[in-house]
Amino acid sequence: MRLNNRALSGSECTRPSVWALLFVLSVMNLSVPALAGRADYQRPDIQPPPANNQTTEARVALGRVLFFDPRLSGSNWISCATCHNPAVGWADGLATGIGHNMTTLSRASPTVLNTAYNKFQFWDGRVRSLEAQALGPIVSDTEMHQDMDELIEELKAIEGYRPLFDAAYPGEGISASVISRALAAYERTLLTTDAPFDLWVKGDDSALSDAAKRGFALFEGKARCSVCHHGFNFQDDGFHNIGLPSHGEQDPGRYAVRPIRAVMGAFKTPTLRELARTAPYMHNGAYNTLREVIEHYNSGGEPVEGLSPMMQPLGLSTQEIDDLVVFLDSLNSINPLTETIPVLPQ
Ligand code: HEC
Ligand code: HEC
Repeated sequence: MRLNNRALSGSECTRPSVWALLFVLSVMNLSVPALAGRADYQRPDIQPPPANNQTTEARVALGRVLFFDPRLSGSNWISCATCHNPAVGWADGLATGIGHNMTTLSRASPTVLNTAYNKFQFWDGRVRSLEAQALGPIVSDTEMHQDMDELIEELKAIEGYRPLFDAAYPGEGISASVISRALAAYERTLLTTDAPFDLWVKGDDSALSDAAKRGFALFEGKARCSVCHHGFNFQDDGFHNIGLPSHGEQDPGRYAVRPIRAVMGAFKTPTLRELARTAPYMHNGAYNTLREVIEHYNSGGEPVEGLSPMMQPLGLSTQEIDDLVVFLDSLNSINPLTETIPVLPQ
């Protein structure tokens, strides 16, 4: 039962080794963040692609065109980029997404940047691979509202697509599997680029202001953010209920996938990169600013069923909250990944 363990370890992880190390360093009266953290935050390899979808230029090129093509939707109006728009941090700037027929979705559109590092996709982690994720929005009634058989016929009728499919997946024709693999191959290339924090990790001490360095010390220390947000992508592939104020019906989150009480209302820890471009925040868009987010953590969260035991009032001062915001700002790419909308095949 690996998934069970995963879900639980995600919500119960306390990272004793890090706390022990911080304790030792503080006893030694060393400057805690500078030395303890850096190595843990280096860019890792992405999750390996499946054997039948090794990344090639032709696959990425096909996936890029599909990602921006509104003909993938039933209405021919909505593309993946409608909700994962490069101009808004590859998200949509909305509290929750808007799909077919202007339907308001129940969850926020996450950025697709760095999803190549995720062990789980979606807020509730219901699929593991980008390949398995990609067909979901196309056939979802509320998102792109497309019939897969019809889509395949439509794409076959667009002459300009044939050479792209042939080059990417020779001899495989046009199928749901090929579409999902091409989209996933493209998404694996959508990565954040160096932020000031990364330059500091690589050893440039001047890349972070004193306020950002104090913020990082708080992040790993008093504010305990790194219990859940750690490593290069600032997430733990785990699921936690952080006690968001709920309006109306509560979204069961991970519980719908794994019905274990410990994960009632728990959601996947999201990346903290590129936050400058991806507000509003949280699975339900509950907060518009990073200050509101940190004030939420400072309060310890609402006492809801399933609240993570790691959520405790933090007692942060206004100055400390300011420093945390400055630190989070240091996680924005200096030259964010941009994209030009491709010419669509006819
Ligand atoms: C109508 C808006 C909308 C469209 C169109 C859309 N998405 Fe999404 N996307 C979302 C929402 C909302 C979620 C989160 C849903 C959830 O977690 O239950 C999501 C989640 C994802 C995720 C998971 C990210 C993560 O960190 O867990 C990926 C990857 C993704 N979408 C890729 C795509 C691709 C590829 C397409 C086109 C085939 C697409 N999306 C079309 C709104 C949209
Ligand atoms: C118990 C684990 C845990 C701790 C501790 C924690 N987070 Fe989170 N964080 C999460 C989870 C899970 C979410 C998504 C919650 C949801 O949407 O329901 C989240 C969401 C966020 C978001 C929104 C990101 C987005 O794109 O929507 C920000 C910003 C954030 N956390 C920053 C922090 C900071 C700063 C701290 C420390 C003060 C912190 N977190 C402590 C687990 C945690």
